[in-house]
Amino acid sequence: MDYESLGAQALDSIAKAQDLDALDALRVAFLGKQGSISGLLKTLGAMSPEERQTTGPKIHALREGVTNALADKKAALESAALEAKLAAETVDLTLPAPENARGSVHPVSQVMDELAEIFADLGFAVATGPEIEDDWHNFTALNMPESHPARAMHDTFYIDKAASGYETEQDMVLRTHTSPVQIRAMLAAGGDKPLRIIAPGRVYRSDSDATHTPMFHQVEGLVIGKDITLAHLKWTLETMLKAFFERDDIVLRLRPSYFPFTEPSVEVDTGYSYVDGRRVVGGSGDAPGHSWMELLGSGMVNRHVLTAGGYDPDQWQGFAFGVGVDRLAMLKYGMNDLRAFFDGDARWLGHYGFSGLDVPTLSGGVGVQA
Ligand code: DAH
Repeated sequence: MDYESLGAQALDSIAKAQDLDALDALRVAFLGKQGSISGLLKTLGAMSPEERQTTGPKIHALREGVTNALADKKAALESAALEAKLAAETVDLTLPAPENARGSVHPVSQVMDELAEIFADLGFAVATGPEIEDDWHNFTALNMPESHPARAMHDTFYIDKAASGYETEQDMVLRTHTSPVQIRAMLAAGGDKPLRIIAPGRVYRSDSDATHTPMFHQVEGLVIGKDITLAHLKWTLETMLKAFFERDDIVLRLRPSYFPFTEPSVEVDTGYSYVDGRRVVGGSGDAPGHSWMELLGSGMVNRHVLTAGGYDPDQWQGFAFGVGVDRLAMLKYGMNDLRAFFDGDARWLGHYGFSGLDVPTLSGGVGVQA
């Protein structure tokens, strides 16, 4: 058989190949080690130079033609296979998308962020302190020396020093309030400059019922200056609460009280009423249908506390306050059982939690847009 008809036959069988497997079998039959064209190439060595000169180009042309035909056919078969697959497989765009489980921001974190935002606008920095605190910062420096009766009201958790390896003379406690951060912030400031801080964080007391949990959250506030007065305290709290509850009709009532770390001390009440069975802050507590509720403790920083913080009480004075964050969250967002805050129930978090994108900003009104 001459090389042309051999070539025509090979090209014909390649054209008729039905699938990639059949095509590959042809490739092996023609060009594989034992393939027919490979065999022809081997015969070149035994030919006379003249014969090789006329026959060689024909065999090479045959091999090239077959190689190209195989490649073209392979590309054609592959694209046909893809077409067939695309035609067979359809995507139903009307099917519901798979649900994406997303976490949420806990109301306590959200409210702390809201408060930090509000106070930042008033020039307050955020200060922190340890949750395992020593007796001096938690009590003594705050004008509660040992045997002070106010200590008994704090239901303190004491650290077992022997078991935990603390090497201090003092008792170590889980801080019972954020007030020790007042002392730490004053000492860090060095006693010679004005101070404006808030200290949000966890606090601990051995107490548990529907409105008390062994761990809860407070925000402490402290302002020190040369001429800070109770009027500054009232304005600051009023401004803060108006921004936080996003209403202008917040009315405060300051009642004389007692805290060891302030003198004078005031308990701050706010007017509220019931709307659809829910407590809503706003209006005077003396207005019809309204009452007062206690919101936070505050006062002018006691001289002993200024001294413990390294400030000269004859030159410096200031105000302080402490407020329950969980309480504020419940009032603003309408939860009624504090214990659920810390159960870690994903259903509760899904309902009361916030989207990570709901970052509180003053321009948006710090709260979350419904
Ligand atoms: N530390 C107090 C508590 O936990 C709250 C408090 C009251 C803080 C009056 C203050 C303050 O800074 O001036 O009960």
